[in-house]
Amino acid sequence: MMGELAYKVRRFSEADLESVIKINRTCLPENYSSNFFIDIYRSYPEGFLVAEYNGEVVGYIMCRVEFGFSEFGRFRLTKKIHVVSIAVMVQHRRKGLAKTLLTEAIKALDRKYGCSEVFLEVRVSNQPAINLYRKLGFRDIRVIHHYYIDSEDALVMARKLPLEEDLESEAG
Ligand code: COA
Repeated sequence: MMGELAYKVRRFSEADLESVIKINRTCLPENYSSNFFIDIYRSYPEGFLVAEYNGEVVGYIMCRVEFGFSEFGRFRLTKKIHVVSIAVMVQHRRKGLAKTLLTEAIKALDRKYGCSEVFLEVRVSNQPAINLYRKLGFRDIRVIHHYYIDSEDALVMARKLPLEEDLESEAG
């Protein structure tokens, strides 16, 4: 599907910074400085991908690897992938781009770092994103009250790794 439509997912490069910042500001209330994007890219380039349509950047995912308590076990320390930010421009939604960005970034970071889980925070009202994460096998873990600047609650969602074969091949 992706080939026919001239969509392509590839590694972020610093030349994409302006496009990614524009997509972030258009699609999400959580905005970051250039340094924040660049620092994550330089630390975890495998987890920072963009989606292009005919050469134009229309979506991105940015992840990092963290060492901390498992979202599943009690006080077990583990290496986990944190999905920091993901967005796709509205004209290019429902084409599987976010699903591909997520699976490709998770696979690449897992391959390099051998992570045992992946987690993220999502606004409790963000049904499209929650549906996407559920479809990829994420489960609801806990709610963090007043997490966002406007005081909306965050739902923490997580799943164990690795991704199953069926998810990997579907996204490829
Ligand atoms: N309503 C219901 N389910 C949805 C949905 C929607 N609007 N958007 C995605 N999904 C679910 C569906 O199950 C979908 O599969 P389907 O199209 O076969 O039914 C699946 O997720 C995969 O969707 P995909 O096409 O890969 O997602 P996308 O490229 O449209 O991007 C977001 C999804 C959430 C990244 C996009 O809507 C977005 O950029 N939103 C604004 C930014 C944002 O909220 N980011 C997440 C912050 S945590």
